[in-house]
Amino acid sequence: MTDPYLRVENVVKKFGPFIALNGVNLEVYPGEVHALLGDNGAGKSTLIKTLAGVHRPTSGQLYIEGKPVDFRNPRDASDAGIGTVYQDLAVNQLMSVTRNFFMGRELKGPLGTLKMDVMDKIAHDEMLKIGIDFSDPTQAVGTMSGGQRQTLAIARAIYFGAKVLILDEPTSALGQKQQMEVLKTVKRVRKRGDIAIIFITHNEIHSQLVADRYTFLALGQVIGAGKAGELSHDEIRRLMAGGAEMKDLEGELAAI
Ligand SMILES: Nc1ncnc2c1ncn2[C@@H]1O[C@H](COP(=O)(O)OP(=O)(O)O)[C@@H](O)[C@H]1O
Ligand SMILES: [Mg+2]
Repeated sequence: MTDPYLRVENVVKKFGPFIALNGVNLEVYPGEVHALLGDNGAGKSTLIKTLAGVHRPTSGQLYIEGKPVDFRNPRDASDAGIGTVYQDLAVNQLMSVTRNFFMGRELKGPLGTLKMDVMDKIAHDEMLKIGIDFSDPTQAVGTMSGGQRQTLAIARAIYFGAKVLILDEPTSALGQKQQMEVLKTVKRVRKRGDIAIIFITHNEIHSQLVADRYTFLALGQVIGAGKAGELSHDEIRRLMAGGAEMKDLEGELAAI
């Protein structure tokens, strides 16, 4: 087996006296989708913000390709190949697809003029590679569907060097069809083989459609982990619910 690209070792994150992450371990491998699951408040966003250089761990260590790393800010994480697509997708609806794709990293000519034609072509080609043929990247992002916007953000992260692609609840705000589009994009990225994907969701059906590996968080702790083939559907549902037996909860519900 290949080595993990990223390893999280015993990470603790405190906010004042509150312990949001309590000794989390995690490994992510290239060419795999690692589903990170857990109920609201489990610590999923805190964990990925730690990986993305937004938070510094209170204790514990991150490793990239076996070497210890300390991200002081999001730029450090991004330079180390951590690409994060947040739930609220920092996109500007009024600006073009291309301008959003290159936001803050525009290609400029010798006189500082923007190389719009080159950027349009790259934006179009990179999105096509992972599944959307958005023929006119000069159009405003506001004309794209929610699924296409996710794909734009994913294509941008990959183009700018992401080796770990972190997707924070990419399907949660979308309709059914759009959700499937995003899952297709996730599978296409996995197929490249060189990128590790951390897929955060609280939809166990979505996780089972794409995940190779699982980690379940509850109240800041890992309460279960394993490869897709090793976990039964019932086990996944139980761990998703923070360890509660869903059958019992459903029984109680049916009895009312
Ligand atoms: N900046 C912060 N300051 C204080 N508490 C926080 C902060 N960020 C998150 N928390 C707390 O940490 C816990 C985990 O939150 P979060 O990581 O957002 O969970 P999830 O993404 O799994 O829903 C929550 O109880 C939340 O209130
Ligand atoms: Mg969250």
